[in-house]
This record gives sequence, C-alpha cells and structure tokens, in this order.
Amino acid sequence: MNGISSKVKVEFYEDSLLPKRQLKLQSAELTNQGRVLVVINDEKLQFPGEYLLRFCECAKCFSSACLSHIRSLSDLYKADLSLKSVTMSEDGKYIEYVATNDHSGRFTAEWLYNRRMTQQGWEERNAAVFLHKPCSWPVADKMHVEKATYSEVTETEMGMQKFINNLIKDGLFIITGTPDRRVADEFGEKTGLAPIMNHYGPNWIVENVPVPTNHAYSSYALDLHIDQAFLMHCPNIQLLHCMTQSEVGGESIMSDGIRAANLLKERHPEYFHILTTLEINQKDVISHYNQQQYYVANRSPTIVLNKDGDPVKFMFNSVAQSSFFSGSPEQYEEYERATKAFVGLLNECSITFRNEPGDIMVFDNERVLHGRASYDKRYERKLEGWYLSWDMMHSRLRVSNIKTAQN
Ligand SMILES: [Fe+2]
Ligand SMILES: [Zn+2]
Repeated sequence: MNGISSKVKVEFYEDSLLPKRQLKLQSAELTNQGRVLVVINDEKLQFPGEYLLRFCECAKCFSSACLSHIRSLSDLYKADLSLKSVTMSEDGKYIEYVATNDHSGRFTAEWLYNRRMTQQGWEERNAAVFLHKPCSWPVADKMHVEKATYSEVTETEMGMQKFINNLIKDGLFIITGTPDRRVADEFGEKTGLAPIMNHYGPNWIVENVPVPTNHAYSSYALDLHIDQAFLMHCPNIQLLHCMTQSEVGGESIMSDGIRAANLLKERHPEYFHILTTLEINQKDVISHYNQQQYYVANRSPTIVLNKDGDPVKFMFNSVAQSSFFSGSPEQYEEYERATKAFVGLLNECSITFRNEPGDIMVFDNERVLHGRASYDKRYERKLEGWYLSWDMMHSRLRVSNIKTAQN
C-alpha cells in the first residue's frame, strides 16, 4: 500500500454493519482457564485470553489509519503471553486487561458483544456481511426480470440496492435509459464498480465485423454459454449495453443454470454426476484488443458445485471448448449424452427478450447462461460489454446498507 489511507476519510468501521444497541457490562472476571467471562445486558459471554491478546485494540496493536490489527504474530507467539488480570470500568462501558508482560488494552461492551462467540452472534455477523443468496428461477413464463433506470442505479442508494439485491437473487437485471455512448468507465467512476480487465481489454464492442476474432463479433446465432470459461478466474458479472439494435432478430436468450442443473440432477442423476466430475478443457488462442498473442487455457467440470453440493457455476462454452479431451472414448460418449440432456434443459428453462438501445443487460456470467438469435446484418447492432466482480459488488451493497441505516 502507498499510504493513501491517511488521505481517505474513514466514515465507518467493520462493526457499522451491525445494529446499534444500548449495552452495559455488569461484571468481568478472569477464569482459571485464562478466559475472560463478562456479563453484558444479562448475557454471559466468554472470550479466550489468546483471542483478546490477538485482537488487542490498543494504539500499538491496532492501526486506526488502516483499520487493522497490526501486531506481529511472531512477536506475540515468542512472548508466550497470557492474561494476568481483567477489570471493568465503573460505568460498565469497557474492560481493561493486563497481560503477563504488563501490556494492557481495553475492549468496549459494544466491541465484545458484537463479537460474542455464540451461534446467535456468528449468525448475526454472517447475515450482515455475507449477502450472496441466489434463488433459482421459477418456470420460464413466470420469470420476471427486474429493472431500474441508469440514473436510479448510479445516483441513488435505493436504486443501487435494488440493482445488486436482484442481481444476486436472479442473476439478471436490466438498467434502462443509459446514455447513447460508451459508459463502462463512467459507470465505474460513478458507482465505484470498476471494469475487470483481461485479454479482451477493459471493455469491448460486440458487432458484426468482416474478420471476427470471436464468434460473437458476427451476426450468427449464439448458443447458450458463459463468457471466458477458459480463464481460471472467470469474470463474475457481465454487462452488455445495447447502443443500437437490429430491426430483425438479435433477441437475447437467457437461462438460469441453477434451475437447469437441479432438473438434470432430478431427471438424470447419472448425467449430473458426469457433468459435475469430468473436467473439460477450454482455450482461447488469439489476440483481441492489442498486438499480443495469447494462449489461455483452463479445465473444469461443466457444472461446479459449492461445498454443500449445490450447483453454482457453469463452465460451458461450446465455441471456446478445446478438442483436447482428457478422458477415454467411452467417457466422451457419456459426456455427449449428458451435455445433450443439459442443453435441452437449459433451452427448456430459457427466456427470450429484446434489448432496446439504452438497456444494459447485467447478468451473473457464471450462473445465467446467455445466447442470442441471429440477426439481419443489414441493420447495425452494437453492444458495449464489460465485466465486474462480485467482490466489488458485495462491497458496494454493504456500503449502501450502512449508509441507508445511518440516514
Ligand atoms: Fe458471450
Ligand atoms: Zn495492545
């Protein structure tokens, strides 16, 4: 870091995501096991001595410039410290500890309560911090795509929250009324959601060109796919800003991979097993936006599961798929049968609609597969595209939630 934090005004802290409460310490004592036992608002809470020493809030151990605990772990472990004593302030606002080397520090009632090591405590913190809870789509004709205007999203916290919350839930959102020019950089500056760079450049234009370096830069139909399945860190979110639209064709086709994968698991568990275990190679061996040559490659199962075994990502792109197959002839035959069934379900679950000039179609690139109908190339059809990350999107939502709660 270059010390820029000293110039940034700190508006809030990690704890700002948690509710404000009236809290009072009633007692504090050191137990025989070296823990601190406190009673706050009639609730008994215990904290290991090691924990309080590790997260000491004194000016030597905590930097108020970078809002981080900066105590060296090596020094801490070398000193082999434990707590010598704990006292409570008369007003019940904080406790003070002294360690075996006479280092001392304070913790407020609020700090301790916000970090209570109980199921209710960790559930409250995780619910406030970890906001990603996608919901599978309903049947295609019941699927409703949420929308907000460009100015609502870029200028109001309510618009921003509607945008991100629905993008998390459905993996798809449409921003309408976008200015008639390239806006990727401007959108980043206004919202703090900066484009993610890769070998396609920071943003790109999708239109029919005489010698396309990607099949999308044509007027042909595109099968349902995700972008950049050949990257180990595939872009999380894609934005396609429609600047001009062909009068004939060019409709967007979108399908929730989670819904299709859950149906595959239900109807053809053996195919689900193949697509969640067999690794498929993807590659991109081309130069797009600069004069450099690239050879990008990755392999992954088609359907990626999370730690609970639920389908969450779909590394599927027939155009970028490599013919280097890592398996036997029998496995390839099984793979084709499984893929055929999965593609059938993706199509069954898909919705089709037209984007008009001024629309930005925003979607979870790894979850909601996208495709398009062919179009009449006598009409201009021009889209501006770029990618964003969930990390920055989640951060923006947390900031927005804090700002809204403070007002
Ligand atoms: Fe694409
Ligand atoms: Zn300290």
